[in-house]
Amino acid sequence: MQLTSLAAAALLAQGATAQFGNSMLRFACSQLVVDRIDPLVNPGMKYTPHLHQLVGGNSLNVTMDPETHDLTSSTCTSCTFKEDKSNYWTAVMFYKAKNGTYKRVPQVGNGGPQGKLINKGGLDLYYIPSGKTTAFKKGFRMLAGNAANTDPNKVQKSNICHRCWTSPNENTFVGGAPCTGSDTVDIPKSKSCKMIRQTIIFPTCWDGKNLDSPDHQSHVAYSSGSGATGGGACPSTHPVKLPQIMYELMWNVTEFANSPDFPTDGSNPYVYSMNLGGPAAHGDYLFGWEGDTLQKAMDNIGRCGLNTDCPTAGLHAQTPDQYSSCTKEQQAPEEVDGWLAALPMGEMAIKA
Ligand SMILES: *[C@@H]1O[C@H](CO)[C@@H](O)[C@H](O)[C@H]1NC(C)=O
Ligand SMILES: *[C@@H]1O[C@H](CO)[C@@H](O)[C@H](O)[C@H]1NC(C)=O
Ligand SMILES: *[C@@H]1O[C@H](CO)[C@@H](O)[C@H](O)[C@H]1NC(C)=O
Repeated sequence: MQLTSLAAAALLAQGATAQFGNSMLRFACSQLVVDRIDPLVNPGMKYTPHLHQLVGGNSLNVTMDPETHDLTSSTCTSCTFKEDKSNYWTAVMFYKAKNGTYKRVPQVGNGGPQGKLINKGGLDLYYIPSGKTTAFKKGFRMLAGNAANTDPNKVQKSNICHRCWTSPNENTFVGGAPCTGSDTVDIPKSKSCKMIRQTIIFPTCWDGKNLDSPDHQSHVAYSSGSGATGGGACPSTHPVKLPQIMYELMWNVTEFANSPDFPTDGSNPYVYSMNLGGPAAHGDYLFGWEGDTLQKAMDNIGRCGLNTDCPTAGLHAQTPDQYSSCTKEQQAPEEVDGWLAALPMGEMAIKA
């Protein structure tokens, strides 16, 4: 079962036709906005301490109180399935040139059967069930990773990792299953990397009671399983098995790796928007699927899958043009593209 799903993932990432039954939902989300907001960790705040790329439903706002904010009120979603009004976000990556100025690293989709998101940002999402899987409840939210962490030893490489993608071609698969082999917690800094793939795998075990917790983490726990296999046995404190959510981001560093302004002092030119490296990688999730569509998709995973309608679960797939047209204005307006004199961490980013 586990080997089958890993093999399928690898094949699908190469653009091969699915020969196995689907064992996961895998779909593309384009960029809703790049904005200094964080309705989970810093509700109500504009110009949060660091910049995020956010995708999903357009009800996204600086405050999203689970008591009063209904994510399904979104009028569109930048994710493939029309019924998925969830919000997903991560920090964004910057490149620091030899002269000390910064540029946001462009993101691309992972190709294959996903459709392409070339230079439009976004990420690929996975929902991987394993055994009896209980979908998230309305109002559920969680955080994976720690935005302040600088110690690679405090991160499980099998959950949060980076891969040096030596091919500039998004359709050429590099490496094995996510967060295995030579994948690293740190962001790879070699000039041989033409893309950097970031993977964030969320915990799959829930305490069954709390939709959130003060640190947005203690109501969930990682299972005994490892990597992108849907998760193994859950601890008795968190007995309810959730779908395993995985974010997959492709940072296209080709223009930087090939550039004469690449630093020559051995420093790592790639940082996340906290001005920290790979150990601070994190992902935020606000559940917002309509009705019981996600539960039905998990229960019928052999019939639902990749970017296609799934009538059994009531899922409708949008075309890339449709989901890419769902965007939002920044609520903390500032320049985030082009060469910047400093990371956007003060009141406003400063153009170089
Ligand atoms: C955010 O929420 C406020 C308060 O409910 C509302 O007035 C505003 O229109 C919302 N903004 C966006 C962009 O949805
Ligand atoms: C720094 O380097 C970048 C990339 O080579 C260049 O485009 C930019 O103009 C330079 N900025 C300054 C302030 O020298
Ligand atoms: C990645 O960036 C390079 C250099 O800017 C560009 O030529 C290439 O088309 C990009 N790749 C994708 C898949 O967008």
